[in-house]
Parts: sequence; structure tokens; C-alpha cells
Amino acid sequence: MRIVDWAGDDEGGPAVVLLDQRALPERTEHLFLRGVDELVAAIRSLAVRGAPSLGIAGAFGVALAAHLHGTATPVAVAAVGDAAQRIATARPTAVGLELGVRRALDALGGGPAAVLAEARAVAADAARVNDAATVRAADLVQGLCPDRPLRALTVCNTGPLATGAGGTALGAILRLHERGALAEALACETRPLLQGARLTVWELAAAGAPHRLCVDSAGPAAIASGLVDVVFAGADRIAANGDVANKIGTYMLACAAARSGIPFLVVAPEETIDPHTATGADIVVEERGADEVREHGGVLRTLAGTPVYNPAFDVTPFELVTAVVTESRAWSPAPSAAAGRSVAAPR
Ligand code: MRU
Repeated sequence: MRIVDWAGDDEGGPAVVLLDQRALPERTEHLFLRGVDELVAAIRSLAVRGAPSLGIAGAFGVALAAHLHGTATPVAVAAVGDAAQRIATARPTAVGLELGVRRALDALGGGPAAVLAEARAVAADAARVNDAATVRAADLVQGLCPDRPLRALTVCNTGPLATGAGGTALGAILRLHERGALAEALACETRPLLQGARLTVWELAAAGAPHRLCVDSAGPAAIASGLVDVVFAGADRIAANGDVANKIGTYMLACAAARSGIPFLVVAPEETIDPHTATGADIVVEERGADEVREHGGVLRTLAGTPVYNPAFDVTPFELVTAVVTESRAWSPAPSAAAGRSVAAPR
């Protein structure tokens, strides 16, 4: 499946190609974006989303700008720099977006072909990182609970659509399924844009993995009722102290996991841990438009003009995180929290 890609001369000239995630699961449609403004609009409206996929799209976006403007004159280089800035700031919370843009921009001295090569390297690295992190995460939970298939709960979408490769948190769940070690994945629907219902369910079904869908507020109830062995979440940005910004609704799952003594695992690329962000309080949480909450399927579901609070993400304090699992380590920012959690609780 072509999720985030590049189109060259054989497809009508330079373009960033995106599988339009807004149309899923009803329709599988690709966008061919030939201008930076179109790409920025696609990022803002979540045609592409998920921190690693945003990083790949951002890097290809810089390659697009380099092909459109060239890199031969100071004016051209400034135009590419301006485009890169607009792409990097299209959504503020996911660190992957700015990192992907910066990597591509750093290759500008080599000309458009070098920028494109670096963007392709960003995509290839995502695939390697996903593989290593999901093996580590699956090994970790199976080490904690070797004797039976697991019931895993997750939120938002952190599978191939979100990373352009194997996925992070959902990738770990899919890996458990490959190993015959998944009893059930419980997917929170993820209001208001339904990444869980639309995208995670689509990916679980495609993999033939056993799953059920629940409303977001049923997640903590499922944990408290003993229906969940482990919670897997992704991350948009992790502060240096281990506080984790992820899709709104993640924090309540971490609270419930701590209360019930089951592991709350964050699976993410190492680069998600941002050394320039000391704590979660320093993370910029994107606030999105009111109509996402007021409306459902384009139909108004409350009083017209109702004021809305619509943060796209929340911050889970490090004390609630059993481990952050990356391609290079399993890091417990609060070792005492890790020690208290087990997946071996009786069913
Ligand atoms: O608003 P979204 O859909 O971009 O939010 C995505 C998430 O919160 C993911 O959990 C996160 O980016 C990690 S994707 C591997």
C-alpha cells in the first residue's frame, strides 16, 4: 500500500503522494500534491497523520519545494526554507514532522536530488525503526506474560498508516498476532476524528487480527473490569523527563492501567524523545476546530455556536508510563511504576 510516497516524471512530474486517510475506510484514494500549500492543507486536515508519517510527508514536501524552486540561487534557497517552515509548523505537537523537514532541509546544499534522496532515507529509517521497536515491545510483554495470548487495548491509530511502515503501538499488537500471541485487540474509537474506528479497525481487519471496537470512555471501564492485559500507546512527543503527549484519551487509559496494575507501554521512535522539551508542561498541544466536536458526519449534534474545547492530544505524566519502548531500548522513566505492573494478573 502506497501511504506516503514521491511521484516523479513518470507520473506527471514532482508530487507528494498520499493515501487520503480522511476517506478511509470507505474509499481508498490517493492525492497527488504538486504544491506546498496543498501539502500544508493536507497535513492540517489529517489526510496524512501520525507522527512518523508526518515526518516522511514533511521531508518529501521539502523535496517538492526544492524541485519547484531549485536551489541554485540565494532567492531559491530562501523560498525552500520558507516552504519548509510552513510545512514544519502545520501541526505543532508531533516532533517527527519538524525532524523530517529538518533532515531534508539539511541536504539542500546537494541540490533537489540530494533532498529527495534524504526524504527517501527518512522513510527507510522509519521502516527499520518500526521493526526494531515492535519486536522489542512484543518481546517485553511476552516476557512478562509468556503463558497465554494477550488482550491489548490501544487508542488512535499507530499502525502502518501512521508510520508509512510497520507501525509502533499497533505494530507491536500486529506482531503479537503474527506470533499467535494475541487474544484480542480492543480499539478505542478516538473521538472526534475516529482514527481508531476508521483506521485501526481497518488495519486490524486487514491483518486478520481478532478485535473489538469500543467508545473511548469504555476503555478505562474495560481495564477496570479485567478485560485488558496491556495498554499500548504511541507518542507524538515525549519530554526529556518521560511525560508523553499522545492522542486525546490516552491519559485516562494510563490512569486506569496504573489503578489496575497492568502495563502501560508507549512504543515510539527514539527521536520522539525530545531533549529540548524538559517536561510535558512545555509541549504545545494542538487545539483543533470546534466543528470537529459539534458535528458528526457533517451533521450538527449540539446547539449551533456552542463553545468547544478540542485538544488533539493530552499529556500522560511519566509516573504512569511503565516503559517507553524504542528501537534501541525499553526505558522506564519512573522505575517504581514499572516494578508495580504485571501482565500476569489472573483473568
Ligand atoms: O492527530 P493524529 O491522528 O495525527 O494523532 C496521532 C497520534 O496521536 C499517534 O498516536 C501518534 O502520532 C503516534 S503514530 C505512530
